[in-house]
Order: sequence, then C-alpha cells, then structure tokens
Amino acid sequence: MDIKEARMRLEKLKKEIGFHRHQYHVFDRETISPAALDSLKNELFKLENEFPELITADSPTQRIGGEALAKFKKAPHAHPMISLYDAFSEDDMREWEKRNLNYLSGFPAGYNPGYYCELKLDGLAGSLVYESGQLVRGVTRGDGRVGEDITLNLRTIESIPLSLRRPEKEELKSIGIVGQDVNAFYRLLDDGLIEVRGESIMSKQVFAELNRKYEKEGRQLLANTRNGAAGSLRQLDPKIAAERKLDFYAYDLILGDYERGEIVHSREAADKLVEFLGFRRVKDNRRAASLKEVFAFQKKWEGKKGTLPFFIDGVVVKYNDMRMWPLLGIVGKAPRYMMAYKFSAEQATTKLLEVIWQVGRTGALTPAAILEPVKVGGVTVGRSTLHNLDEIRRLGLMLSDTIIIERAGDVIPKVISVLSNLRTGEEQPIVVPKHCPRCGGDVRREGDDVILRCTNKNCYAVALRRLIHFASRGAADIEGLGERIVEQLVTENLMEDAGDIFGLRKEDLLGLERFAEKKAEKLVEAIAAKKVMPLSRFIYALGISHIGEESANTVAEEISRRLSSKEILPLELYRKAASLGIEDWASLGDVGPVVAESLHTFWNDEDTETLMSKFERHGVILTAVQAASGHLEGKSFVLTGSLSGLTRGEAKDKIKARGGKTKESVSRTLDYLVVGEEPGSKLEEAKKFGVKVIDEQEFIKLLEGK
Ligand code: IVH
Repeated sequence: MDIKEARMRLEKLKKEIGFHRHQYHVFDRETISPAALDSLKNELFKLENEFPELITADSPTQRIGGEALAKFKKAPHAHPMISLYDAFSEDDMREWEKRNLNYLSGFPAGYNPGYYCELKLDGLAGSLVYESGQLVRGVTRGDGRVGEDITLNLRTIESIPLSLRRPEKEELKSIGIVGQDVNAFYRLLDDGLIEVRGESIMSKQVFAELNRKYEKEGRQLLANTRNGAAGSLRQLDPKIAAERKLDFYAYDLILGDYERGEIVHSREAADKLVEFLGFRRVKDNRRAASLKEVFAFQKKWEGKKGTLPFFIDGVVVKYNDMRMWPLLGIVGKAPRYMMAYKFSAEQATTKLLEVIWQVGRTGALTPAAILEPVKVGGVTVGRSTLHNLDEIRRLGLMLSDTIIIERAGDVIPKVISVLSNLRTGEEQPIVVPKHCPRCGGDVRREGDDVILRCTNKNCYAVALRRLIHFASRGAADIEGLGERIVEQLVTENLMEDAGDIFGLRKEDLLGLERFAEKKAEKLVEAIAAKKVMPLSRFIYALGISHIGEESANTVAEEISRRLSSKEILPLELYRKAASLGIEDWASLGDVGPVVAESLHTFWNDEDTETLMSKFERHGVILTAVQAASGHLEGKSFVLTGSLSGLTRGEAKDKIKARGGKTKESVSRTLDYLVVGEEPGSKLEEAKKFGVKVIDEQEFIKLLEGK
C-alpha cells in the first residue's frame, strides 16, 4: 500500500471506529461487536505503525475512550483511572514479561515476579470513594481523568456497601498487615479516604429474566449483559438501575495517598481485604508462580467461562507483589504491571479477496469466500462459506469489501456483515458464473435462481464428487477408496463413473504411485465385498439430486415392492424405475415435487442406462428391502462407539433386514442402545431414560434371533 492509499484507508477506519465508539460510549448502543471493533482498531494501529507520519491527535489509538455524558456531574479521579493493554497470545504475554524484566534490569537475573490472575468481568468500571468509611461518591471511568458522578445509581446496587465494614485485627494479620500498618489502615478507615474500584455487572440470569419480562411488556430488549449494566447506570433515573439488580465485584483498592504496595503488599492480600471491607470479589482469582501457570489459568477459564454466572472476556494478569507497581509505573494509556490476556475473539474484520465456486456431487455450485488471512476464534482463517447466491445478496457483498467474520466454537467460519462505509469505490460486483469452473459446461439456475448447477453430466468435478460420494461411508462404504485415491484413479483414467469401480482389477492398480501389491489386493477385495449391496444404499450412493438417505430408502422400498424378488439386477432396477412417471414418484410418502422431478429426470436419462449396464456387467447385485417381517419388527436401535466385528453401516443393514429400525438419537421410546468401544454421550442418555443397553455380543445374538 502506498501512502496515498494508506491515508484514505486510515481516514475511513477512523470515521468508522469513531462512529461505533460514539454509539457505544455515549448512547450505550452496540452497533458492532467489541471483537470486530478491536479488529478494526488493530488494523488502524498497524497502518499507523507503518506510516507514523499519518498519526493524528484525533486518532482512536491516541486516547483512552469514553467522554463524560453532559447530563451527569463531572467528577475528577484522585488517581487516574487508566486502561489496560491487551494480549491475545502466549507470545504477547512472553514479550510483556521480557519487556518488564528489561525495564527492571537492576533485578537479579531470573527474578520471578509471581503473578495474580483475575477473571476479566465484562461490565462497567466504577470507582467508589469512601470518606471516613462512608460511601460519598461513585464515578465511572470516563476518560480516565474525569468521570461521571453516578453515585445515586451505584447506591442501588446491593453488593456495594454504603459504609465499610471494619476488619478484625486477626483478619488483617491473616493477610500480612501487621505493626504500624494496622494503625495506618484503621486511621484511613476512621478518618481518611479509601477508594475501591471494580466492575458493575448484570448476571446472565438477571439478563434472561429481564428480557423475558421486557418481551412480554413489548419493551425494547437488552442487547447483552454489559449494555444491561452500563445502560442502566448511565440513566438519570436511579429507579431504572434499581430495577436491573446489578452486582459489583471489586478488583482494586487505593488506600488514601499511600502507594499501591504500601500497607497491603500483595494483590492477593488486597483481594481478600476488599472482602473484609464488605465487598464481593471473584473467588476464582488465583496466584500463578510463572507464565506457565498463567497460561493454564487462562486456558481453563476460556473453556469454563460458560459455567460462570456472569460474562468474562479474558483474564487480567497482575504483578502479585504490589511493591513492584510504582517501580514499573505507567506507559502510555496503561500500566506495565498488569495485562489483559483476552480470550480468542470470535469475530474479526478482514477483506474479501475472491469468491470461488465449488462443484458438489449433485453438480451444485456453492460459493466460498477467499479471505485475507485473519485470526479468529484462536485459528487463522483464510476461507469461509457463503452458502448460496441468496446469502451473497442478503449481505450485499462485493469483491474487496471489508467484512466481519465469525467463528464461534468449532463451527465453520461465516461472513456476518459488510462494512460498506469502508468502501473505496473500487469494489467489484461478484460475478455469477455462466459456465462451470471445472468443465466449462453451462450453468443452470434453479429454485428462485439461487441454486446454480452445472448441466454437464460429464463434468470432471461432478464426476469426481459423485465417485467420492459413491464410495463414501454412508453410501457404498468401500474401504480404502477415499477421496485421494478416487482422485488418483480418475486422473489416471481408470474410472469415469461409479460403474467403473467394480471393473477395477489388481493389475490396473499395480504400478500406480502409493499402490504396492498388498494395497492393490486389499482394495480390489474391498470392492468385491460390496458387489452385493442393499438397494437403498445403492440408490443413495448414486448421488441423485435431492436424494438423501431417507428418500433413498423410500425409493428402494417402492422398487422392492414392485419387483417382488429378493435380488435385483441393476438393469431390472433401471427398467422398473424408468417406467414410473413423476406422479408415481410424487405419490410416495415424503417425496415432494422437486424430488419426484429429480428422480424422473435421472431414471429417464440415457446415461443412466449405460451406467446401470456397466454395474450389471461387473456383477453388481442389489438386495431388495424385505417387507418388514423379521423378528426385529417394531424394534428401534441406536448405535454408539465402534463395533469390532462389523461396520456401523453393516450393523444398520442387518437391523433393517430383520425388520428393525435404526435411529440417530436416544429417546425414551428407543428399544436398544448398542454400545461398542469408546461410546459417546449417548450411553449416559440411554441410562437416564432407562433404555436397554446391549454390547456387541448381545447384539449379535439378538440379530441371530437367540
Ligand atoms: S484492573 C488499570 N481487574 O477491564 C485499570 N480490570 O479492559 C484497572 N476489568 O476498565 C483494571 N475485570 O473495567 C482490572 N479483574 C479486573 C478486571 C478489570 C474487568 C475491566 C476494567 C477495565 C477494563 C480494561
């Protein structure tokens, strides 16, 4: 990027960030997620680093944030109420430690400071000033020097003591306050100033209750717990705050004009002292002897944050020995002696570089976004799904747009929205392909034009996808014929369609890369083992558009009924199926018009006949669906864990062949849960519902009717 482009981008970023900050800090409106805003700020920060001559005083990177609302009285802070620096990785934390050790170069090598790890509550920071032990003022952070006087609102929070409790001498002793310090402390309590800082929050439970109530009353809902807390505390009418049942957790204690570290030496002791003074504190805060322990603490709470009654967005790591605090001091907007170690953000902003169209097994073209790589949810993401054309239209997406993406938990990242204010005018519309990106064949639009499909049945990509699907687990389930091998065999011109699979000979395979004698033999055996295949699986494996496992079953049942023989040859199947009209298909249970049409088209295609004769030539035999009459009729089964003697697919076939049903999830009405090795959570559920649990041996006996 040259300086001209950088200046333009910078201006737009500043405007965008400024807009969202204003909405948030002044009106408590969350117009963008904090994570996405951070992402924008990060980009700005990096650009400014690269072009320092472009930094201006009004840049969001140059201030602490939050202006005092005009409607509240302004209240200066006796001690600046500064901000925190953020770390996002273990490396960031290591650098922080190293920087500090350098800064403290007078200390012996290997000096290990010891940390105190606290949960980082997500609410509104507040400072409470006690004069002679009485609450006189409650103030927001504001810009760090001057905040808003919200005393009346804070007084409505029950967990804020209006007067401080007087700790016992023994209690003080237990946290290392002895001798002269005891008297100094009591003097402040009786006749001096004590300031307690902490976070006002709304619990998840109160949030849910209030929103249920607001919904009934037709009032506007709270966006999240932080807005619930911040919004009410910044209303002029304290009744609103009272209604919201907020909590206050203390995280800092300032004793008159004493430096931090005087009187109370450690952060751990200060944390306990606030409790002796009558405050709530987070009981999960812990000492950590080294960064290694800090990392473990952070990881643990990233995983467990859902179990807490309130939201946290990271941990705050502080030097436990508070006598170090004045030595380390403050740099820029925040102290050196603490660091916010954030959880991985679930949203981030990045740029859309390209849209590619992937061709699926049914020939459908699905768009995927190629992104400028960005870290989100703890991993670097360079690609995200876009579902279909509708989604692209809904988002109003253009090439080169700055977008917000989200990756929550382990789900595939998705595009949430477009920041259209950041456009430069150079963005290009996303072109809908007229031709298949793989074979160049024509593309047809279906379903209100949102689904694109390659019309070329011989499209390499289509063929490949079809083959991969045919051999896959849920379908023909041919062991050793995975994606890579299929692709290899197609590239070597050994297969064009699924019929060719059954014509493969060992000689064809030998000599290919990665195919030694043993492997070739195994694959050919695995293929031969599937020459006799249940009809329902075969139909599903064909990859007919819109035909999933369920509808394949329905089709197989119908064909079996009409042919009334136990074994069906592929051409018999073809002739019977081709003789049926759309109405015949549509008359089957759960076959809608779209599915019926798709079946009709497939079975009336000449290529289908060619394919079926190939299957027949190679000796494929299909087993009909038995009219439900086996001894397992009416019984339902769920499988969990892996069985040693047969695959899951085989087990399901055997159940069905005996008239039984298989299901995916455990319910009260289930008859059997079959448990293999390393069963999943289904076992617990089955026990809970009192469902009969059987192991593989018992299952086999049951199949054999014993
Ligand atoms: S100490 C120097 N400890 O996080 C400012 N802050 O991102 C004192 N926060 O404004 C911060 N939990 O409102 C500290 N255990 C904790 C915290 C905490 C939440 C908030 C605080 C601060 C913000 C900075």
